Amino acid sequence: MARIAAAILAASLAAAPLADAGEKRAGRVALPVVKITKGGDCVAPTDEMRRNHMEMLLHQRDRTMRQGLREKRFSLKNCVECHASRDTGSVLGKEGFCSSCHAYASVKIDCFECHTPMRQVPTAGAPR
Ligand code: HEC
Ligand code: HEC
Ligand code: HEC
Repeated sequence: MARIAAAILAASLAAAPLADAGEKRAGRVALPVVKITKGGDCVAPTDEMRRNHMEMLLHQRDRTMRQGLREKRFSLKNCVECHASRDTGSVLGKEGFCSSCHAYASVKIDCFECHTPMRQVPTAGAPR
């Protein structure tokens, strides 16, 4: 979380000289909430995930839909199982893993109109 915040902050600071100094944007915008509540490694290194997760998912969708291939590692369901919030069970919402970062980056995805944003397997022993 600190790392992505730092990276985005660094990026916005780097862009700052180009913006009107009067706008005072850097340092005032909300930073994305990137909380990871389930242990285990991601399907690829964090840097690669930050840069390429969209490609993995989109290519996977193409391959799955058009050629009938499945690779569980890159399945959307799998992402949700690890990244859903412990509190809400979802990757969406104000502090949701996918939505908070996308809100920050102004990215809109339609995926969860069909796919569930909810973790399916309850965390073992979670009292709730
Ligand atoms: C109109 C409904 C719909 C939308 C919108 C949609 N999908 Fe899907 N998706 C499906 C269906 C149906 C399947 C095939 C059934 C399955 O495997 O669950 C599928 C399968 C997949 C799979 C492979 C199976 C899995 O669970 O991983 C991935 C990955 C995937 N979609 C990603 C996406 C992404 C990323 C988006 C948004 C960019 C998206 N989908 C938007 C309907 C949709
Ligand atoms: C087994 C659990 C697990 C699965 C499955 C998983 N992730 Fe991750 N993911 C993690 C963990 C843990 C991290 C944090 C790694 C770190 O900080 O070094 C992470 C990091 C990320 C990041 C970078 C976040 C940041 O700090 O910038 C993105 C983006 C991401 N994952 C997206 C996905 C997507 C998309 C999928 C499905 C294709 C997925 N993950 C599947 C556990 C998982
Ligand atoms: C670390 C921040 C971050 C996290 C966390 C994150 N995303 Fe993204 N995502 C982005 C950014 C930034 C883009 C836009 C990249 C671009 O346009 O090149 C994006 C784009 C996408 C796209 C492609 C949208 C399009 O129309 O091209 C999909 C699909 C996607 N993300 C799915 C997910 C899913 C599913 C999750 C949660 C499992 C997730 N992302 C978590 C930052 C993030």
